[in-house]
Amino acid sequence: MNKKIKKILSKKNKSKIVSLTAYSKNIAKILDNHVDIILVGDSMANVLYAHKNTHKISLKNIIQHSISVRQGVKRSLFVVDMPKGTYKNLKLAKKNARLVIKKTNCDAIKLESNGKNFQIITQLVKKKIPVMGHIGFTPQFKKKFKIEGQTKNEALKLLKEAKQIEKAGAFSIVLECISPLAAKLITNQLNIPTIGIGSSSHCDGQVLVTDDMLGISGFYPKFVKKYANLNRIIEKAVKKYTREVKLRKFPAKDNFLNGRKHRK
Ligand code: KIV
Repeated sequence: MNKKIKKILSKKNKSKIVSLTAYSKNIAKILDNHVDIILVGDSMANVLYAHKNTHKISLKNIIQHSISVRQGVKRSLFVVDMPKGTYKNLKLAKKNARLVIKKTNCDAIKLESNGKNFQIITQLVKKKIPVMGHIGFTPQFKKKFKIEGQTKNEALKLLKEAKQIEKAGAFSIVLECISPLAAKLITNQLNIPTIGIGSSSHCDGQVLVTDDMLGISGFYPKFVKKYANLNRIIEKAVKKYTREVKLRKFPAKDNFLNGRKHRK
């Protein structure tokens, strides 16, 4: 088994697993010193391409961003999301997962559950492709946002799905927007780690979309904590640059290129 995956598994019941998304090298490089898992999420559809959902992002888009992210990842586990429609049958799933791994050299792929793709996970794992599952509010399959697992019956249904994903061989599972009750139940009953987003602190780890927590996406639901307001910082820098260009303060003598040296 991949050493990085082993390390993630060993954290269950010991220490919390930290994960964030990245869509480019520069962000990945910063995250890599701190987080356990870097995910190239199909959330890029909303965050970068202004799509109203994640359905239309292509495998080509995901691969292109992952090639950039790869350049910034050294120590974290590098996971790439499979877009909607790219794993709808066994043949397609194998072909596309292999392509993603070949082009991006990622450690694992993630796919969302529609309550029936357990066989696909089993077969990918058999072919030595590490898989991260994803249940709850799975944007590729659910149209209307709803907090999942709010009643005991719903929570038990989610638990059954999670157990089937574990049995299929997934090494971890994302729990998206499920009730604290369901998150606790699933986390306690599974041997593999659960990574929550909008699913309380009962999960083994947490993931957020980096652009949301940095305050540049404009999407701040209750489950997102804004750890920075990068919008404001970037705007301030851009305003200063604009002013200095107009006032002929930039470029200053210091920024002129003379001789051979062109880096600070
Ligand atoms: O696409 C994504 O960013 C995700 C996370 C929200 C888990 O799947």
